[in-house]
Amino acid sequence: MGKRTLKDYPHVRLELEPGLGILDLAEVFGRDAPTHLEIGSGKGTFILNQASAQPEVNFLGIEWANRYFRYAVDRVGRWGLSNIRLIRTDAAAFVRDHLEDHTIDWIHIYFPDPWPKRRHQKRRFINDQNIEQLLRVLKKGGRMQIITDHPDYWRQIQEVLERHASCFDFVRFQPTASATAGEWVGTNFERKYLKEERAFYAVAIEKKA
Ligand SMILES: C[S@@+](CC[C@H](N)C(=O)[O-])C[C@H]1O[C@@H](n2cnc3c(N)ncnc32)[C@H](O)[C@@H]1O
Repeated sequence: MGKRTLKDYPHVRLELEPGLGILDLAEVFGRDAPTHLEIGSGKGTFILNQASAQPEVNFLGIEWANRYFRYAVDRVGRWGLSNIRLIRTDAAAFVRDHLEDHTIDWIHIYFPDPWPKRRHQKRRFINDQNIEQLLRVLKKGGRMQIITDHPDYWRQIQEVLERHASCFDFVRFQPTASATAGEWVGTNFERKYLKEERAFYAVAIEKKA
């Protein structure tokens, strides 16, 4: 038997056909269930562990980098989980163009790229436009959790959130099922940064009913 490739797991990888409009999430997952969105799934550690712990929930993971995406698709396929779909695309465009209002129960954004150089900071995912879109697709009472290790990005995240604070309440950050003792979320980047003893900044919000 040859080495497994991405082709072995077409049910995990979701292709966005040109011209595709709003996604029918029930059709995508073959069932109507609460849906969590992870932005920047990386190698998929969080989504795998969380989806195993919550088989009743649908998990949609968005990852831009092909190398990480392929790695995550392969892992999800080998684990045999049926409640995960992964999409290789830009999460900003995906949320804007393919998600309906009030359809997502949770949004997870763990260690988004900090783009530390001043001239690159406009690439940071957490900005006013994207937060507006994320708040649009969250259900009333839905949650969003964000963690970063980067103090300057953290300042930006706080400022952006404050500008939209009329739409949500700040709530206690809930460690995820992927987290082991001493961790918040149990992603690869968290584990790497814990070893380096970096400080983390975490926030959780709940959209007003
Ligand atoms: C620093 S890594 C963190 C990965 C994972 N969340 C973790 O904590 O281990 C950030 C990830 O977000 C992905 N990413 C960055 N911008 C993105 C975007 N606009 N859409 C989708 N993925 C994105 C990157 O390719 C990278 O894999």
